[in-house]
Amino acid sequence: MAWSPLLPFLPVLLLQVPAAARASPLDTLPERAAPCEAGNLCPQVPLGKSHAPPVNVSLYYESLCPGCRGFLVRELFPTWLMVLEILNVTLVPYGNAKEQNVSGKWEFECQHGEEECKFNKVEACLLDQLEWNLAFLTIVCLEEMDDMENNLKPCLQIYAPKVSPDAIMECAMGDRGTQLLHMNAQLTDALEPPHQYVPWVVVNGKPLEDMSQLLSVVCQLYQGKKPDVCPFMASSYRDVCLK
Ligand SMILES: *[C@@H]1O[C@H](CO)[C@@H](O)[C@H](O)[C@H]1NC(C)=O
Ligand SMILES: *[C@@H]1O[C@H](CO)[C@@H](O)[C@H](O)[C@H]1NC(C)=O
Ligand SMILES: *[C@@H]1O[C@H](CO)[C@@H](O)[C@H](O)[C@H]1NC(C)=O
Repeated sequence: MAWSPLLPFLPVLLLQVPAAARASPLDTLPERAAPCEAGNLCPQVPLGKSHAPPVNVSLYYESLCPGCRGFLVRELFPTWLMVLEILNVTLVPYGNAKEQNVSGKWEFECQHGEEECKFNKVEACLLDQLEWNLAFLTIVCLEEMDDMENNLKPCLQIYAPKVSPDAIMECAMGDRGTQLLHMNAQLTDALEPPHQYVPWVVVNGKPLEDMSQLLSVVCQLYQGKKPDVCPFMASSYRDVCLK
């Protein structure tokens, strides 16, 4: 359980982002941001240490869809914080976009316009270039705030200070970004059954119907020793303790 002392820090780090973003982001970053750079306090998912395979959770989404942002920030992120050691999360930013081969070059049309295509590519590039946990934390940081473009820098500063926002934007605006989004288009188009809306969540190959049940479904599906938080999910929140 080497990772557990970190967990209380993560929400704190996240909550500090808006403050950092409002002030001059580079000067005012909290000291707590430093440990992640050193690697010792970064979340480590001890996959393989547990005896059962992790539960696969894939999120098909698009960067500017409010429901996707809500699911990512309010369902997937807290679930991941609680049971990351039994999860294998995959993010596929693309969603309801469409692609077209225009004389040998892929062009995309996104539901919420050009801006959304750009941020789908930014997030695909983060997933491509950062260690997965750090990419996920950076994406949650971006998605929970407005003005993603200006928040890329402070979010990266907290979770991956060695990665320059310019390098991510260069990836997003260049051939690599196009290639990554095309790969996400193929993953999305290959969904069986096809997605009907986004966020579209697939857990161990099956669409998740009630998106508020992610944690309890993951707990149910996991075949190994359940994390401590799981038994609480079996009983209703409305349980009371009589005096
Ligand atoms: C985690 O998910 C990825 C992508 O969906 C898959 O390639 C990989 O095999 C999965 N890992 C495990 C341990 O299931
Ligand atoms: C895209 O279109 C070009 C020419 O317009 C064609 O040569 C190429 O094979 C097409 N690629 C795919 C993957 O369809
Ligand atoms: C998770 O996905 C990987 C890759 O598709 C697959 O090999 C593995 O069996 C899946 N795990 C579970 C628990 O379904």
